[in-house]
Amino acid sequence: DLHSSIETPDKVKADAPVYVGKEEDIKQSQRITASVHDREVVVFYHDGKFYAMDRRCYHAGGPLHLGEIEDINGQPCIICPWHKYKITLATGEGLYQAINPTEPSATPKWRSKGIKQRTHKVTVDNGSVYVTPSDLSIICDSDYYADKYKKTGSSDM
Ligand code: FES
Repeated sequence: DLHSSIETPDKVKADAPVYVGKEEDIKQSQRITASVHDREVVVFYHDGKFYAMDRRCYHAGGPLHLGEIEDINGQPCIICPWHKYKITLATGEGLYQAINPTEPSATPKWRSKGIKQRTHKVTVDNGSVYVTPSDLSIICDSDYYADKYKKTGSSDM
């Protein structure tokens, strides 16, 4: 039918996995940046696992590929180099420390603000690493900077 034959090609293209590098190279460098359908992403290799997320921090666009990785409550997190926001590698959740003011002796607890940074799926096939963009119809805070830097990037070329 005509309707589906028009819609299908675009949809497949925008969702398609994109080759970002060789498995061995990324394992060695532990992180790379790549363009995935015009979106700047960072791919990390940490403790035997691959992770991918938008490269620009959801807070103010900081360069996450330059951050340190730290374990918080058993979850590996990237610490943004600009204002030290903590983002879980696996889910893109923003973490913060909460203190209950009515319990002055209580130690601060790590809490989640929810998913703030868009993460993407990483697959390894025959020594090649691919990133598949996550569902863009679900809005994520980091989208603002992903769009902003996409435009700047192309006009600067
Ligand atoms: Fe990342 Fe502010 S830009 S913490």
